[in-house]
This record gives sequence, C-alpha cells and structure tokens, in this order.
Amino acid sequence: MKRVDDFRLRFGKQELVPIVIGGMGVDISTAELALEVSRLGGIGHISDAMVQDVSDRRFDTSFVKEKTRQYKYNIDNSDKSSVKFDLGQLAEATQLHVGKTMQAKRGDGLIFINCMEKLTMNAPRETLRVRLHSALDAGIDGITLSAGLHLGSFALMEDHPRFRDAKLGIIVSSVRALQLFLRKNAKLNRLPDYVVVEGPLAGGHLGFGMDWAEYDLHTIVADISKYLEAEKLTIPLIAAGGVFTGSDAVSFLENGAAAVQVATRFTITKECGLPDKVKQEYFKANEGDIEVNTISPTGYPMRMLKSTPAIGSGIRPNCESYGYLLDGNGSCAYITAYNQELERNPGSKNIAVMGKTCLCTHMRNFNCWTCGHTTYRLKDTTRRLDDGNYQILSAEHVFKDYQFSVDQQIALPAE
Ligand SMILES: Cc1cc2nc3c(=O)[nH]c(=O)nc-3n(C[C@H](O)[C@H](O)[C@H](O)COP(=O)(O)O)c2cc1C
Repeated sequence: MKRVDDFRLRFGKQELVPIVIGGMGVDISTAELALEVSRLGGIGHISDAMVQDVSDRRFDTSFVKEKTRQYKYNIDNSDKSSVKFDLGQLAEATQLHVGKTMQAKRGDGLIFINCMEKLTMNAPRETLRVRLHSALDAGIDGITLSAGLHLGSFALMEDHPRFRDAKLGIIVSSVRALQLFLRKNAKLNRLPDYVVVEGPLAGGHLGFGMDWAEYDLHTIVADISKYLEAEKLTIPLIAAGGVFTGSDAVSFLENGAAAVQVATRFTITKECGLPDKVKQEYFKANEGDIEVNTISPTGYPMRMLKSTPAIGSGIRPNCESYGYLLDGNGSCAYITAYNQELERNPGSKNIAVMGKTCLCTHMRNFNCWTCGHTTYRLKDTTRRLDDGNYQILSAEHVFKDYQFSVDQQIALPAE
C-alpha cells in the first residue's frame, strides 16, 4: 500500500515531499507555518493579503496608522476613489514580509507566496505589479496566482530578472480557465511551473458558482491531465480541496497529480495564525455548521462557519485604513450594501448588513471564519482535553501524518 512519501514532486533536479500547504490570508498561513513546512521538505505558502497590516503586526511598522491618518478626512464620505495605496510603502511591506521569511528558511523545501488578483486595491494593475515584483525582489521561491484569472499577471513580471527562474504557478478550477491562461500567455514563451487544481471543497473563495456541489476534484484533475497530455505540455498538477488524509492524497498522486495542496488540517495547528479561540470553533464544527455563501464583496462564493461574526455585521467600511477590495473606481460591494442599509434605517447606529461583509476588517480581525468543507472532521484528528477543549496540534505532526499514513488512518497526537 502506497503512502505519500513514496512520491516526489520534481522541479528540474529538485525533489520535494509532494505536500503543499495552501496560502491562507490574512496571515492564517503564517511565516511560521510556511517555514515549518519548508523545513520538513514540502512547500509552504505565505500570503500577501493585507501585507501592510501583516508587516505592522510582525515588525512593528506603522503602515496602516499612516494610511488612516492620511485619509481620515474621507471617513464619512461614501466615495472612496481618492483612497490610494502608496506603492513605495506597499513594496516596503511586501519586501519585509517576504525577505524576513526567506532569511529564516531552513531545510530543503520551498516557500511560495499566494497572490490574489481580487485584491484590486483601487489600482489593480499598478498594485499587483508592485506586489509581484517586490516578492521576487525579496527572494521568494515561487508565486501562486489565485482568486482571479490572472490573464495579465505573467506579463506584469516579464521584465523582472527572476521571471524565468522563480517558480510561478496558477490556481484554476476548470480546464477552461487553464486554457484561457495558457492562450493569453503563449507569446511570453514561459509556461507555469505548476498548476494548482482546486476543487469545490476548498476553504476561502471558490472558483465555482453556488452550484459548486455538482463538481468533483477527481474529475477536474482528470480533465486537465487529459488536456495537458493532448497538448504535450508537461506541467505538474497539484490537487487541492478536501484532501483530508494521506490516503486521499495518494489517490490523486496515483491519478495524474504531482502533489496535493492542503490547508484545512493545518488551521488548528499551533503555527497557524488563527487565535486559539477560533481554532476551537473549527474543532467543534459539525457538517451542518458550515456553509458556502455570497457575502464576500469579491463576487466569489466563500465557505465559512455559519457562526462567523462577519455574517450580518454592519460595521462602517474601513477603506481609509485598509481598502484592499476597492476596485479601480474606488467601489466595493460592501460599501454599496452598507449604504443601502443606512438609507433604509436613517439615524440608526446599529445596522445589520446581510448581503455582503466588510471582508478586510473581518479577515484582519479573524472574524471571518472561512474554512474547508472537511472542517467538521478536524475533531477526529486530535484528543479532547479535560477542560472540554481540543488539543492543538503541531504542523510537524499533521505534515508527517499526511506523509506517512496509510489506509485512511489519522495519527492522534501524543497526550
Ligand atoms: C482558512 C482558509 C483560508 C484560505 N485562504 C485562501 C487564500 O487567501 N487564498 C487562496 O488562494 N486560497 C485560500 N484558501 C484555500 C487553500 O489555500 C487550499 O487550496 C484549500 O483550502 C485546500 O483544501 P483543504 O482546505 O480541503 O485542504 C484558504 C483555505 C482555508 C482553509
């Protein structure tokens, strides 16, 4: 019976344990988690979502405070088009986050950064270019393009000296999205080094509509493998979404995938950035406590616990401090929903906004409890303590469980 450790993900001569821990913004997949995974020989992700805020917390910088001070005059104005990011500061924050992480790297694994196109930051092209270039400048091993089709992202990096040496990959949920990406980038003469194929059971935003339940990861991986074979393209496929055990991973590694990307099982590890209180909520969740809804202003469905404080919250949009989801015209679907609710309840101090949420503020405060479909199984991966809480695991324990387990077994931690 095979186990994950019988397989290797190959990039040229480099061999890796074929386990990738997916990016989880905002700082849920911390540098600490990514470093641990790279030490163990796999691939860890950090995320560049709200990187100024992450830098402020990690390095005591004051990017957010400065931005708030600069745009304080606009707080009561529903037009946010003047609230811009300072590109120099965006570069500085990204370089700090990436640079310090890469300096601390040990072991034979790699550290990638997850870069979401949907973080449009009131100047989509300009800010994305700075994010990509700064991560490359700071020595990141690879960039995973996510939450968007990224049709122009390779071109934004084309003039960077590391464009052909850093590992660059994209997350897709259909063969069509991959075809579009490859067609659009054909003239750059540079294929992605890997393609993450993310199915409908993943956490975070989904690359599916509300009919997500009609799709299945095995089928999509098979479709994309077949397409790549027909086109004579050798690009490693990384299967993601709902891979809960080492045996689940093996079923993909034996059927066209070169690695798996996992996340949910690491959300309750010590190295994960979620507060311990939230980790306990994840442990406690039952299947019926998890939903896919449309409250994200990005327009993508998102999976989360139904008890997420962000659902129904009517806080004032906080774009003068954050503003990561402002589109190129300074709009965000939450601002629209918030203003409609204000109009319906003139003078009211506590409004509830049901349709959308202020994702920046709630992700920043760990109040949007996004999670994978298999979260309800996390309680089976640990022990219940005398105080009723569940025992938090180490990333090493979970990583090795994926790497060595057989027969759908899950190793419990030492007491
Ligand atoms: C808490 C959480 C946050 C996530 N955030 C992001 C994100 O910011 N960007 C992204 O591309 N994927 C995100 N994902 C998706 C993961 O990177 C990964 O591909 C997927 O969840 C793997 O499936 P699994 O959670 O069933 O193992 C997130 C997943 C979780 C569980």
